Amino acid sequence: MKKPVVLVTRKLPEATENRMKNLFDVRLNASDSVMSFEELIEKSEGATAIVPTVTDEINAALVSALPLTVEIIANFGAGVNHIDLAATAERKICVTNTPDVLTDDTADLTIALMLATARRLTEGCQMLKNDLWSGWAPTFMLGTSLTNKNLGIIGLGKIGSAVAVRARSFGMRIHYHNRKPVSESIMAKLDATYWQCLNEMLAQVDFLSINCPQTAETRHLLNAERLDRLQQHAIIINSARGGIIDEAELAERLDKGTIAAAGLDVFENEPEINEKLSSLNNVVLAPHLGSATNESRLAMGTRVIENIISFVSGQVPQDKIY
Ligand code: 8YV
Repeated sequence: MKKPVVLVTRKLPEATENRMKNLFDVRLNASDSVMSFEELIEKSEGATAIVPTVTDEINAALVSALPLTVEIIANFGAGVNHIDLAATAERKICVTNTPDVLTDDTADLTIALMLATARRLTEGCQMLKNDLWSGWAPTFMLGTSLTNKNLGIIGLGKIGSAVAVRARSFGMRIHYHNRKPVSESIMAKLDATYWQCLNEMLAQVDFLSINCPQTAETRHLLNAERLDRLQQHAIIINSARGGIIDEAELAERLDKGTIAAAGLDVFENEPEINEKLSSLNNVVLAPHLGSATNESRLAMGTRVIENIISFVSGQVPQDKIY
């Protein structure tokens, strides 16, 4: 049987690429540079599958310009906000993602940001590296405890729940906002409080973790008005998507001190970072590292391969979104 032609837009783990070379007529991207609109169209010529990442803008114009041979977009990643799903549905292109396999690592990174922000780790590290530490003192660089604090989670899905499990082991109380409450059994396991009204939850929490997908509805969900509902000592953690927070409004409040601190792994216009954000001491920044472990990235590659194989053999891929 003829191998399906597969275009991979970025460099993937070596083991994933080697498996793809065996299974597919694969077009890899050794330079790892982000492809332009024209390059994506040109390199998709004759391909059945495209494997993009969060760095590819698969918008309506691109989808409509794709060669007719393209039948599946097997995204390397869980979030698909960079893909216009209405446009792919119209062209009847199947879209898959890679959920589950990055849940734990992304939740770990979320907790790492929470601890680093609350305990001022990067600020302390910077001080030592700049040789500015004059020694221990009783009132030096005091942070905030996690124990006994209220953590509000926006989006208690897979990653949100994994964050909640970890946070409970730090003695935090779990609050969450979803469109609908989760099952009784999950609520009981996490001893979680459901807030149908996000605005009400925001006013109650000490820490806020964003774990929902970015969609048309959640873009700038945390706008100026909602950010102003947070308590002055509140700490915001975002490991989901940058566009869920109005970044400029957040930076202004962190600068003024009306929000205490933020730990951010994602940004509105990656890889650009709002200048004010990167200058502030009360902000811990990470370069979109949520799933950046060897284990997660390999498992994501496996999931992509499985989705393509299912699709080309006429089955429904396990991670089919559309
Ligand atoms: C991925 C992520 O690395 O899976 C996601 O949604 O945000 C990241 O962890 C990225 O999306 C890869 O395309």
